[in-house]
Amino acid sequence: MQAQAVIDEAIRGRRTHKVFQPEPLPSELISEILDLARWAPNHKLTNPWRFRVIGPEAKERFKLVAEDDKPGSAIKLDRTPTLICASALLQGEDRQRREDLLASAAACYIVLLAAHARGLASYWRSVPVMDSEAGRQALRIGAQETPLGLLHLGYPRQTQRVPERAPVQDVVSFLD
Ligand SMILES: Cc1cc2nc3c(=O)[nH]c(=O)nc-3n(C[C@H](O)[C@H](O)[C@H](O)COP(=O)(O)O)c2cc1C
Repeated sequence: MQAQAVIDEAIRGRRTHKVFQPEPLPSELISEILDLARWAPNHKLTNPWRFRVIGPEAKERFKLVAEDDKPGSAIKLDRTPTLICASALLQGEDRQRREDLLASAAACYIVLLAAHARGLASYWRSVPVMDSEAGRQALRIGAQETPLGLLHLGYPRQTQRVPERAPVQDVVSFLD
């Protein structure tokens, strides 16, 4: 298949999965995916993204915080074999901080695409308790970092419904 067709498929075919097989991903595979995320565009080469692969102890720490915040929520963390804490290191003036936030989001998207390209399932999930002092401490998120959520990765268990997209004419225009 030509590169264009492969990339188009990856973009269209990636889906959010919330259920996974129980097996964790090998650490080499996680590293391979996160290595690709470093190729996201970033102004002034600030490399602002930070990814922390959550190990068993960190998971237990964060489960306590999540459960305290919202009883019953820790179970979601156990249902996912591989969890990655994604954040953006924001420094300098407002413009740079905004660019670095956007670049870090692009890096997260690379993680999802790279996972999909390897036949894996992924889910980018907002987890508000990551913003709390307890959540930041549990996941070792630095004071200058803004949490971007958890990236759930694993082997897929089922195919996903394709959510509708807004028609192109609603979101794209060609200016004079
Ligand atoms: C920054 C971000 C945060 C998200 N947080 C959540 C979330 O907290 N809960 C959720 O169900 N989906 C979350 N999603 C996933 C979206 O719901 C999902 O991308 C959307 O439904 C489209 O489905 P698709 O990813 O399969 O195309 C998030 C996606 C992004 C980009």
